[in-house]
Amino acid sequence: MDIPRRYLFAAIFSLFLFSFVVIFVVLLPGQLLEFATFAVFKPRHSVPLDRLRTKLSGENQLLAVGNSGGIRRDKFRTATTRKLGGKVEERLAGARASMREAATESEEDERRNVTTAHDGGSDDDDDHFVPSGAVYRNPRLFHRSYELMEKIFKVYVYPDGDLPITHDGPCKSIYSIEGRFLHEMEHSAGRFRTNNPNVAHVFFLPFSVTWMVKYFYIPDSHNLTPLKKYVSDYIRVISTRHPFWNRTRGADHFMLSCHDWSPYASQGNPFLYNTSIRVLCNANTSEGFKPRKDVSLPEIYLYGGEVSPKLLSPPSNNTPRYYLAFFAGGEHGSIRSNLIHHWKNHDNEIRVYEYLPKELDYYSLMLNSKFCLCPSGHEVASPRIVEAIYAECVPVILSEYYVLPFSDVLQWEAFSVQVDVSDIPRLKEILSAIPEEKYQKLKEGVRAVRRHFTLNQPTKRYDVFHMILHSVWLRRLNIELI
Ligand SMILES: *[C@@H]1O[C@H](CO)[C@@H](O)[C@H](O)[C@H]1NC(C)=O
Ligand SMILES: *[C@@H]1O[C@H](CO)[C@@H](O)[C@H](O)[C@H]1NC(C)=O
Ligand SMILES: *[C@@H]1O[C@H](CO)[C@@H](O)[C@H](O)[C@H]1NC(C)=O
Ligand SMILES: *[C@@H]1O[C@H](CO)[C@@H](O)[C@H](O)[C@H]1NC(C)=O
Repeated sequence: MDIPRRYLFAAIFSLFLFSFVVIFVVLLPGQLLEFATFAVFKPRHSVPLDRLRTKLSGENQLLAVGNSGGIRRDKFRTATTRKLGGKVEERLAGARASMREAATESEEDERRNVTTAHDGGSDDDDDHFVPSGAVYRNPRLFHRSYELMEKIFKVYVYPDGDLPITHDGPCKSIYSIEGRFLHEMEHSAGRFRTNNPNVAHVFFLPFSVTWMVKYFYIPDSHNLTPLKKYVSDYIRVISTRHPFWNRTRGADHFMLSCHDWSPYASQGNPFLYNTSIRVLCNANTSEGFKPRKDVSLPEIYLYGGEVSPKLLSPPSNNTPRYYLAFFAGGEHGSIRSNLIHHWKNHDNEIRVYEYLPKELDYYSLMLNSKFCLCPSGHEVASPRIVEAIYAECVPVILSEYYVLPFSDVLQWEAFSVQVDVSDIPRLKEILSAIPEEKYQKLKEGVRAVRRHFTLNQPTKRYDVFHMILHSVWLRRLNIELI
């Protein structure tokens, strides 16, 4: 009697196990996802993918959504990862479909000549903020994409690596955005953070290039090998301990750094450099920055860890601004040298200084100028751009090969002026020719984008932390893990 009973038990148990497997592993996820992705997000009309690409980004920055132009990845190795990866991918496919739908809707608006019916919401009401107006390339599409990110997007932060080089970064001075983002991601990213790598859409490599420079670089040695070596070792460790890097060769991984040398450091691993998402202040397309996969990070100078109080409350709109344009800074690089040689002590309305005399105050001059000149220095990025935005001083971008931050959603022409470097001698002529009405529009634009460049603690919707994440989210939508 004993033996058959044991068999019976085994049979019943196996049956139970089998149905458990069928219900929870085979049937349910598929069914639920099919509902979630294809019933809810099913597009009523569809826009060809290449149309969506230009809708989402500028003409010069193609963003491939979906397969076309996207990077096909190796197949997952095991059934389990295929299942989990499949689920992650299906939700992304749903997001792409929903964005395609939003793109169609705004095309229809255009055709019917409806100005976007969105209510901009009140300025302080972060919970209900809806992007609208000329500062966005496509406000409806951005709104949809942002909300999908809030609903879906999950980041896994690798626990590997020791302090201080990993899990920490500078929160003061010129590279502060690096530390602020790292800290946010480590300690308070809330809904965007997951401890389960199997549900993550992207994997964050939490090292700080600025701290590598501080701890490993021998001053004046001009030897960046230790930085590359650290990065190379870090990737080796995570790709040995975890299966995720090898699965996509780093395509769904991202690093973030504001240090001038971070592009060099990222050469420590060829796939990090060529395939991963690199979020960099030094976004120089002529030094390997690829806007399709890399993200331009705004440089934000925090003296002592804070934005200067003077910049927190710029003067009211009708306060006169005495100077046409302002710049002060060292003669770093050819663009600044050109600017200083043409304009230093040359014109009362164009205030260009190399070193600001003691009795003058940098921020007061910004607050007193209509335009703030933001030339590249030794590297393309300049903290002046964000300071100008805070000061409601219209930024004048003087750079070459620079990809402006968040330019796949923001229409920089609506809140800044770009002057060709060869036109530096004509600066006064160019800026004076901007009609007052146009200038007021630009200034309104600057005010409208301020929230996107603001660091908050805790973070707020649509602030700079979320804009960075959103840029990574858009890059991630690019890729399809097959
Ligand atoms: C759209 O509307 C604006 C003003 O409401 C008008 O000036 C413009 O000509 C219209 N465009 C088309 C294509 O109908
Ligand atoms: C990933 O690939 C590297 C190099 O081919 C290998 O050394 C490593 O063991 C692989 N990692 C895993 C988790 O299989
Ligand atoms: C990136 O890819 C190119 C072309 O395959 C290769 O020549 C280059 O060495 C790679 N870059 C790095 C830093 O490995
Ligand atoms: C951008 O990269 C190019 C090529 O290396 C370099 O000549 C140029 O100086 C860089 N721009 C800046 C502002 O550093």
